[in-house]
Amino acid sequence: MSEPTSLAGEAEQLDAADGLAAMRERFVLDDVTYLDGNSLGALPAHVPARVADVVARQWGELRIRSWEESGWWTAPERIGDRIAPLVGAAAGQVVVGDSTSVNVFKALVAAVRMAQEDGGAGGGDGGAGPVRDEILVDATTFPTDGYIAESAARMTGCALRAVAPAEVPGALGDRTAAVLLNHVDYRSGRLHDLPGLTAAVHAAGAYAVWDLCHSAGALPVGLDEHGVDLAVGCTYKYLNGGPGSPAYLYVRRDLQPRFDSPLPGWNSHAEPFGMRPAYAPASGAVRGRVGTPDILSLLALDAALDVWDEDAVSVAAVRAKSLALTDFFLRCVGAYVPDGRVESVTPAAHAERGSQVALRCDDAGEVMKRLIERGVVGDYRAPDVLRFGFTPLYVGFADVERAARVLARTLAG
Ligand SMILES: Cc1ncc(COP(=O)(O)O)c(C=O)c1O
Repeated sequence: MSEPTSLAGEAEQLDAADGLAAMRERFVLDDVTYLDGNSLGALPAHVPARVADVVARQWGELRIRSWEESGWWTAPERIGDRIAPLVGAAAGQVVVGDSTSVNVFKALVAAVRMAQEDGGAGGGDGGAGPVRDEILVDATTFPTDGYIAESAARMTGCALRAVAPAEVPGALGDRTAAVLLNHVDYRSGRLHDLPGLTAAVHAAGAYAVWDLCHSAGALPVGLDEHGVDLAVGCTYKYLNGGPGSPAYLYVRRDLQPRFDSPLPGWNSHAEPFGMRPAYAPASGAVRGRVGTPDILSLLALDAALDVWDEDAVSVAAVRAKSLALTDFFLRCVGAYVPDGRVESVTPAAHAERGSQVALRCDDAGEVMKRLIERGVVGDYRAPDVLRFGFTPLYVGFADVERAARVLARTLAG
């Protein structure tokens, strides 16, 4: 193969050698360069027919029988088991339902309850150590996690302290009950050290809750391998589940008997159809359920997940392509955009980079508006960040080169 003489030529060669290139055909896309899959993933082409079947046949014809015959009742656990391998979890630990925000609430309150039950550093049963009455929250978190942490702290009698993820090890103490962290920063695209931070939280006797919204489906997470306690994530970004598709909750198997949900609805009851006045929790991940699942969204997500197992896509291959795409984008931006016009706030080191590139730019809101008019869709985060998300299943290297070229033209006026 001859050496390409331009970035466009290089993009063509990279696309030709891309083992995931054929996956693009599985999605509904057009001439627009879509770099916003870190906000809303594209539509997998087979999903509309599957959803139509759920509506017309399962609901329209089978009606109430579908709770059993179409597997509606057990869909939250069944679909959780499909997400599990994508986040490095064995089956039986992930349940799907509710929004990420609601799952952050369940996980964080349950984590604090476990920590307070453990007692202080001196030992269990309200033992010798001081009571655990502090929650640490990622100071750079997506806002919803911060709002919920504030409420969870008030409800559990804890103080809340906002700490940058890198500062967490130094901020932990024998009063720390739980730490809520984002795996990838939604604004900068920075990937935090999940294994190292989880180990530090555990060494302090506290519980780690991770928000995986910007990592699941884009890079390996390794929940079981790294001993994460609890985790949550959305499914409408890199898992392409559709607008408002339900989120998931991971509860590590050995913690499940102690998971005391602050939202103990009838769907997590040991005997949901016993209609008992007293609550008794089911065993397993089902404990994370609350009320009737949103079946239409849930089954759209179920269908969307087919792209992973039908084509045997590996998360390692997705990660390798994601890094190649973001590297190439940074190179193209460096080559095309005049010096000083934008500044990348996404770390250059692979170990610290998620699947997006964020560029700081004074007039970012206006620039993104014009980029979208020119067919390059990313998004803008106030006050000054242009965000470009790279979903390896459907973004190619020619998209990357075009986006950087159109960005340079747009910045030129
Ligand atoms: C890190 C993170 N957490 C939570 C959310 C949103 O939560 P919810 O699904 O409740 O809207 C987002 C949405 O973009 C997010 O990026």
